[in-house]
Amino acid sequence: MKVEHFEKAFLSLGALLLLAGLGALLYGSIGAHIHLPGNVGQVDPAVVRTTAPFDQPGLRQVGPNEYEAVILGQTWNFLPSELRVPVGADVRFIGTSADVIHGLNIEGTRVNMMLIPGQISSMTYRFDEPGEHLIICHEYCGAAHHSMFGRVVAVNQLTEGDLVGSGSALAESGVYFDSEGNLVCEDIVGTGTELFQTQGCAGCHSLPSANASGNIGPPLDQVAANAAQRITDASYTSSAETPDDYIRESIMTPAAHVVDGYPNAMPAPQSLSDAEVEVLVQMLLAVSGQ
Ligand code: CUA
Repeated sequence: MKVEHFEKAFLSLGALLLLAGLGALLYGSIGAHIHLPGNVGQVDPAVVRTTAPFDQPGLRQVGPNEYEAVILGQTWNFLPSELRVPVGADVRFIGTSADVIHGLNIEGTRVNMMLIPGQISSMTYRFDEPGEHLIICHEYCGAAHHSMFGRVVAVNQLTEGDLVGSGSALAESGVYFDSEGNLVCEDIVGTGTELFQTQGCAGCHSLPSANASGNIGPPLDQVAANAAQRITDASYTSSAETPDDYIRESIMTPAAHVVDGYPNAMPAPQSLSDAEVEVLVQMLLAVSGQ
C-alpha cells in the first residue's frame, strides 16, 4: 500500500499531538500532583458537628511540612471563620457541609470545591506568598448566601494559637458551667462577641459592638428592651418569661417566635455548648443596656 507523503506527515502529526496530550496529563497528575477536588469520604450530616475531624475544624500539622485544614460550611458561615496557614507547606483542605450545599472557593487560588452534606471534599494547595484570601461560598445556599465568607491568611510563621488543640478552637473557648451550675467565663462581653462573630450571627444580625451589620434577621442593639417587650406581646405564643429566656429561645429554637417583618431563616440547631449559649445571652443583654 502506498501512503502519500503528506498523508504520512499528517498521520505522524496526529499521533504526536495525542502523545503530547497524554504526556501532559500524566505529568500533571503524577509529576505535578494536580488532582480534581473530589469526594474522599462520607460523613452523616446529622452528626457531623460531633464527628471527627469536623467537631474541631481548623488547622492540624500532619507531617514535617504538611497540614490539614478542616472546614465546615453551614448556613451561613464557615467554621473556622478565619484560618492561618503556613507559606510553602502543603495544606490539604478537607470540607463538608452541615446542612445544604455550599461552595468553597479560596480567592486567588485554585482551591475551589463543593461542600456537599454527607460528602467530604478535599484538595491540596501550597501558598507561595504571605497574604490574605477570602473564602467565598459560590453556591446559592439561602437568604444570607451573600454574607457567607471566611478568610485564609497565609503567614511565614505560624503561632501556637493557629493550630487546633492549642487553645484557639471554639471547642476550647474556656467557658463552662461549674459543678454548682454557675457559668465560668472570664470575659463575657469579649468571649460572647467573638462567638457572635465566629458562629455566623454577624452575617445576619446587626450589632454595633461586634461590628456586625447583617440585615437578614432583626437588629440586636436593643435586644434587651425588645425581648422584654416581646414576651408581653399578644402575638408571642411561646413560653419565655424573662428576656434571658427569650434570647436563649431565639438562639436555640428560632422558629418559636419570628419577629414581624423578618423571614424564618435562622438555622438551627447551633453548634454551641450550653455554656456558650449562656455567654451569648449574657453578652447580648450586657451590650444592649441591661
Ligand atoms: Cu453557602 Cu452560599
